[in-house]
Amino acid sequence: MTMSRRKAISLIGGGVVLAAAASATGFLATRTPHKALEPWTAAGSYSEPRKFALSYAVLAPNPHNRQPWIVDLRQDGKVVLLRDKQRDLPMTDPHNRQIIIGLGCFLELMSIAAAHKGFDVQHDVFPHGEDGPVAVSTFKPGAQADPLFAQVMQRRSCKEPFEDKPVPAELAADLSGFATIINQAEPVAALRKLTWDAFMVEVLTPHTMRESVDLMRFGKAEINTNPDGIDLGGPLLETLMLTGQLTREDQLDPSSNGFRQGIEIYRDMLAATPAYAVLTSPANTRADQIETGRRWLRLNLMTTRLGLALHPVSQALQEYPEMAEHYKSAHDMLAQPGHTVQMLGRLGFGPEVQETPRWPLETRIAHG
Ligand SMILES: Cc1cc2nc3c(=O)[nH]c(=O)nc-3n(C[C@H](O)[C@H](O)[C@H](O)COP(=O)(O)O)c2cc1C
Repeated sequence: MTMSRRKAISLIGGGVVLAAAASATGFLATRTPHKALEPWTAAGSYSEPRKFALSYAVLAPNPHNRQPWIVDLRQDGKVVLLRDKQRDLPMTDPHNRQIIIGLGCFLELMSIAAAHKGFDVQHDVFPHGEDGPVAVSTFKPGAQADPLFAQVMQRRSCKEPFEDKPVPAELAADLSGFATIINQAEPVAALRKLTWDAFMVEVLTPHTMRESVDLMRFGKAEINTNPDGIDLGGPLLETLMLTGQLTREDQLDPSSNGFRQGIEIYRDMLAATPAYAVLTSPANTRADQIETGRRWLRLNLMTTRLGLALHPVSQALQEYPEMAEHYKSAHDMLAQPGHTVQMLGRLGFGPEVQETPRWPLETRIAHG
């Protein structure tokens, strides 16, 4: 639930004066969490091919920005990818389906970056079954560069209202090899309602909302200390925190103003959606989930290339009992019988947004 400057303005209303005062004292200029964003600058600054590729892979999209990746580099020319189980999301992702999709995004980004250095990467996924490494990836010289590498640094998940402008048929056609694009009025209206209803279940179910609130980082100091999770930063949000209008307690209390205002912001954002992108798979094995992540990453790079914004909205795809009704509706609407809807994303024209925080690569290397 990252909130932007513009959202914050609507949130504080009369409090804009406070922000102006903060600006006068130089407070606004100092709020960027530079330390948490350093991995974006470090990307590509390694000469060792695996570290070069990994320095981009850590920029992959992943649920709640948990960054559940650990790598072991002890074998020459190989990256052994492990899942950091402390970063699971047991309430909203009880079967770790989304966490594994995020690891698929990581592997695809690693491949694209390795190809830029001339290395082909073969991924052996879950070679020892569910409890072993996620993948053993072998680097060999001799790859063709991948044109989508050019979009890696600009790729974002854009959690903002989109312009009131349809996605043109030509752009939808350009994306047809990457995902199913839904841009007809009737199914779009049905998905707007579904994503909103599912969002409300998540925020009104105490244990799922608590999971998100525990991952919120309030302001620059918290974001720099824990560069993951849901980052609530920027000058205006920090002004709200200073004045007590945005607190962790409020986010857990559905009767509070702060909670209600947050919900309204999300409602308006979900409504401002002209199209959706969907990924499904016939089966739902760990390998299918990894493959979904690889496809999502490529889709996100392609939308970036086309000037479109993409934003995963996963609530209706989550597998806990309170969500069962919306999970079923999502599947009835979007998948053939027996298939799994793996990803649902808002698609449209959105504003430019800032990078999200990352843990530095060095902190994600277990050995080597
Ligand atoms: C499997 C998966 C599910 C996601 N679900 C959501 C979601 O429901 N809502 C949301 O705002 N972002 C969702 N995201 C986006 C992440 O929050 C985002 O990738 C992460 O915060 C890093 O930001 P970035 O993609 O802009 O680099 C999801 C991402 C993945 C890979």
